[in-house]
Amino acid sequence: MDIKERYGPWAVISGASEGTGKAFAHLLASKGIHCLLIARREAPLEELADDLTRQYGIETVIAAIDLARPDACDRMMTAVGDREVGLFVSNAGSDPNAARFLEQDLSAWVDLVERNVTTMMKCSYHLAAPMKARGRGGVLLVNSGACYGGSTAMGTYSGSKAFTLCFAEGLWAELRPHGVDVLTLVMSRTDTPEFRRVLAQQGVPVPDNIASPDDVARLGLERLPHGPICNWGEADDESGMSATSAAQRRERVVMIDKVTSQLFGRS
Ligand SMILES: NC(=O)c1ccc[n+]([C@@H]2O[C@H](COP(=O)([O-])OP(=O)(O)OC[C@H]3O[C@@H](n4cnc5c(N)ncnc54)[C@H](OP(=O)(O)O)[C@@H]3O)[C@@H](O)[C@H]2O)c1
Repeated sequence: MDIKERYGPWAVISGASEGTGKAFAHLLASKGIHCLLIARREAPLEELADDLTRQYGIETVIAAIDLARPDACDRMMTAVGDREVGLFVSNAGSDPNAARFLEQDLSAWVDLVERNVTTMMKCSYHLAAPMKARGRGGVLLVNSGACYGGSTAMGTYSGSKAFTLCFAEGLWAELRPHGVDVLTLVMSRTDTPEFRRVLAQQGVPVPDNIASPDDVARLGLERLPHGPICNWGEADDESGMSATSAAQRRERVVMIDKVTSQLFGRS
């Protein structure tokens, strides 16, 4: 598979300035794909854009956008302009709150849902439509094991990630006949600056054996043609975090797709 032909010429990467987002940017740039890099802080984006251009000779665009704001998707689409985007990596999405629901301002939870659910969904809509028309492309939605169930101090975060899981399954079923790959990459503990910040805030030491962002990005790109789910650290037919395996869930989506396609007709 020629990655550039399948997912180029441009990729949009949210939360690109550090951690897994940055790893995706390096990986895609190394394949010759131009990168549109999004995060709130401009300085690390500029630094990354310079590095990518220097190391791989690709084009870059940076856009400092807060994805939790209601106009985020419009601003992202303005930054995209008439560039041909073949891949959307929705990466920004951790929970900086690490708090019980009622112990945090409601506005923090609204922001989390706006970024992880509304903006992600709106951008997928606008970016996947031209991919479907062209008959190729990819949508890679970064996820967390939290998508398989909520727990203390994780209700809103888990809920947003469960939305991503179900949304990815639906989009995969709809777009695969059109040559567009959809994957939600279910990550486990990964050594990102944000994860380290949250651990430090809680006074918890960095655990051993956490994943490296480069390995996570490599696995995500490798599994993108085999959606809708990839669970970090688990084989495709293994049911660990998910209680049901990725393969079983895929089968279920295909089965439901058959029923709903009879009801609604094929797109
Ligand atoms: N690290 C883990 O252990 C772990 C485990 C499971 C799942 N995940 C998932 O992996 C993904 C990446 O996680 P991460 O640990 O790297 O933390 P993250 O906070 O999701 O990602 C950091 C990146 O996102 C940007 N960002 C954060 N909030 C933003 C906003 N409102 N608008 C625009 N950009 C924003 C940050 O730059 P700015 O601060 O400049 O905006 C930075 O580039 C997330 O979806 C997370 O749920 C991570």
